Amino acid sequence: MQLKKYFTVLFISFLLPFLGNAQNLVHGKKLFETRCLVCHQADGGGVPNMNAPLDGSSNVVGNDIARLVRIVKGGYSEKVPLDGYYYNNVMTPNPDFKDQDIADVLSYIRTSWSNKASKITLAQVQAAKRKK
Ligand code: HEC
Repeated sequence: MQLKKYFTVLFISFLLPFLGNAQNLVHGKKLFETRCLVCHQADGGGVPNMNAPLDGSSNVVGNDIARLVRIVKGGYSEKVPLDGYYYNNVMTPNPDFKDQDIADVLSYIRTSWSNKASKITLAQVQAAKRKK
C-alpha cells in the first residue's frame, strides 16, 4: 500500500540522524580508548602535573574549536597554564586522523563525564582548518 510505504520512508529518515549521531559517539569513544586514554585516563581526569584533564576543562567545552582541532591533529606541549595548572608531559600528534575522526573524538570528549558542550561536526572541523 502506497501510504504504508510513505510512512516507512518518513520514519526511517526521521531516525537516521539519531543513529548517525550515536554512531559518531561510539566511534569517538573507540578512538579515545585507543589513542587518548593512556594519558587522559578513562574518567578524563588526566594525571596531576603530567597530563591535562579533559573532564571539566574550560578549553575542552569552550568555543575555540580551531585550537582543539589543532591539538588533536598536531599534538600539544605549550606548557602554558590550563585552568591554572601546568602539565609537563608531551601530547603526541595524530597525523593519521581524518577530519571525521577529529570531529568524533572531540564530540566524545565534549559530551562525556561532566562535560556538556555541543558536539563537533565534520563541517566545523573543515572550517577550523581553513581558518588557520
Ligand atoms: C602521550 C600522552 C597524551 C596522549 C596520548 C594524548 N594527550 Fe592530550 N594532552 C596531553 C598533555 C600532556 C596535555 C597538556 C600539554 C601542555 O600543557 O603543554 C594535553 C592536552 C590536551 C588538550 C588541551 C586541554 C586544555 O585544557 O586545553 C586536549 C583537548 C587534548 N589533550 C585532547 C586529547 C585527545 C582527544 C587525545 C586523543 C586523540 C589526546 N589528547 C591524546 C597528553 C596526551
